[in-house]
Amino acid sequence: MASQRKFVVGGNWKMNGNKSSIDGIISFLNGGQLDENTEVIVAPPAAYLDYVRSNVNASVAVAAQNCYKVASGAFTGEISASMIKDIGADWVILGHSERRHVFGETDELIGEKVKFALSQGLKVIACIGEKLEEREAGQTNDVVFRQTKAIADNIGAEDWSRVVIAYEPVWAIGTGKTATPDQAQAVHKDLRDWITQNVSADIAQNVRIQYGGSVNAKNCVELAAKPDIDGFLVGGASLKPDFVTIVNARKA
Ligand code: 13P
Repeated sequence: MASQRKFVVGGNWKMNGNKSSIDGIISFLNGGQLDENTEVIVAPPAAYLDYVRSNVNASVAVAAQNCYKVASGAFTGEISASMIKDIGADWVILGHSERRHVFGETDELIGEKVKFALSQGLKVIACIGEKLEEREAGQTNDVVFRQTKAIADNIGAEDWSRVVIAYEPVWAIGTGKTATPDQAQAVHKDLRDWITQNVSADIAQNVRIQYGGSVNAKNCVELAAKPDIDGFLVGGASLKPDFVTIVNARKA
């Protein structure tokens, strides 16, 4: 089953980089041998979206890290879906745990953003994931199902093909503490079952679920071998040539 879903690897650069370091990333992306069977997406800071889109190979898709829930207006500091499209990028990351837990974004707001971004023709990487205390309290599925429901309720059946779910346990992000392949696979499988029961079996079979949280060049191959892990959302390692190794994890 997993083989029918195209492997998809995103690099979330977060609030890192400058033109000089980004030139370095663009050169290892443009010069690297990227597995043609993997969809590759990079998410630079908003200030560099246009620059990256103009300089990285067309085979590499570009994502914004966030956008607001309406078309335009008096929303200082925000960017819109149409701006992302206007500079030639196709994707947006929504609901990242840093948006949720540093900036206080709610399930409801994230759902609204997903709905609006899809209505504007963007593709969406929608992020979910539990905190350490929630995992330790045995609440992982409660949390990720609640977060997924708030997103799924805002996706029409015809739009699911433009959505990737990123499961990123908060305790694994930027900590060097990766979920084990079995831990990640278990949540991905439960998520797919939830989608089967609450959306449709067909959508559940086709939707891609990325794992994110301290993915690196060493652990990516074992994670990529799991049947319900359809790709990665990579933070720190996406700033380094290791990202090419991660993109090629299924080929290794
Ligand atoms: P790290 O790979 O740095 O843990 O970050 C993961 C992440 O948050 C990607 O969105």
